Amino acid sequence: MNREDFEILKSNIIYFDNAATTMKPNKVVNKIIDYYTKYTANAHRGDYDNSLLVDTEYENVRNKVKKFINATSLEEIVFTKGSTESFNMIIFGFMSIYLKKGDEVLLTKSEHASNILPWITLSKKVGFTIKYIELTDNYEVTVENVKKCISPKTKVISLSHITNAIGDVRPIEKIGNLCQEKNILFVLDATQSIGHLKIDVQKYNVSFMGFSAHKMLGPTGVGVLYGKKDLLEKLIPLEYGGGMNVSFSSSGEYTLKSLPERLEAGTRNIAGVIGMGAAVDYLLEIGMDKIHEYELDLKKYLIKRLNEIEDITIYNKNTSSGILLFNLKKYFSQDVAIYLNQFKICIRAGNHCAKMLQELIKVGSTCRISLYFYNTKEEIDKLIEVLKDQDKILDNLV
Ligand code: ALA
Repeated sequence: MNREDFEILKSNIIYFDNAATTMKPNKVVNKIIDYYTKYTANAHRGDYDNSLLVDTEYENVRNKVKKFINATSLEEIVFTKGSTESFNMIIFGFMSIYLKKGDEVLLTKSEHASNILPWITLSKKVGFTIKYIELTDNYEVTVENVKKCISPKTKVISLSHITNAIGDVRPIEKIGNLCQEKNILFVLDATQSIGHLKIDVQKYNVSFMGFSAHKMLGPTGVGVLYGKKDLLEKLIPLEYGGGMNVSFSSSGEYTLKSLPERLEAGTRNIAGVIGMGAAVDYLLEIGMDKIHEYELDLKKYLIKRLNEIEDITIYNKNTSSGILLFNLKKYFSQDVAIYLNQFKICIRAGNHCAKMLQELIKVGSTCRISLYFYNTKEEIDKLIEVLKDQDKILDNLV
């Protein structure tokens, strides 16, 4: 679907590593080039035409993102460097004052590093407890298992919508409603889902959310922190500098701006934000439902064809995303990835930034295929053809 919109796909690569980052359509690339070649200026600082144009473009993106995730107000959308920064802001800027010794935070062992490491670090300082929600035999989250893990001490549940390692889609609407009922904050890691599924922060009762533009056709180095306004207002900035203050003086007094500027210190990634806006437009033009439907159809085909391969283990056939893990029984995953690279087939091998998962699946490393709407059945056919010759992997090893 829409392959002609991606210059890079003309190079005949077969890109199956979309969970790591996606390709960028020409509309996104051109929007960034326009900023650098036609109206470069800083945002919120100048009184000349180009600067005012930058302000308009930059703030239009805030509005686009607000609508894209159905936030209530523009103040709830903060531009960050990406998911990792968003999560560090939520955890060190808000949870550090919200959580107390003895409180409980619920995570799972299949979360991405950025939704585990900051929690572990803060828990050591504050003394709250991290509990891991039990996963099913397929490594999925069920509402029943969430309920079992909740106690009167539970203050926060922080989960990926889709995990980048397994590709399971969590029942976030039900979990969000449960959180509302029990007065628990619900933090959503939308990094892996934002480019693949429709997200509605109001419907899912999301307290805070983070995502990166680069996994949704946008540029690297930019992303979003969403927070319900009353919560975001309590978030202490982790960065101080220009653009976020109203005044400061040698007496040591200073006044900060209101949201969202208060949380956007320094010159931001303006080109990135503008590029992210073009990515949102592009996704909406195709339609999130259409993207999801196409990916599921393609994944079904991928599984059917992978079943033709001898000595293969497929780990997560039943998930409803375009992510699939497998191993060839005779070969180490990284050797498989290096072998596929000879045919310009890009997959990821390893633990996919979810290092705790190996405690559960007892496999340290897997091959991951992550599909997107521009992948095709013909690309899958090529993969299968090459995997059928798997013993040629040995040639690389000698
Ligand atoms: N977290 C990214 C991945 O899943 C980089 O590959």
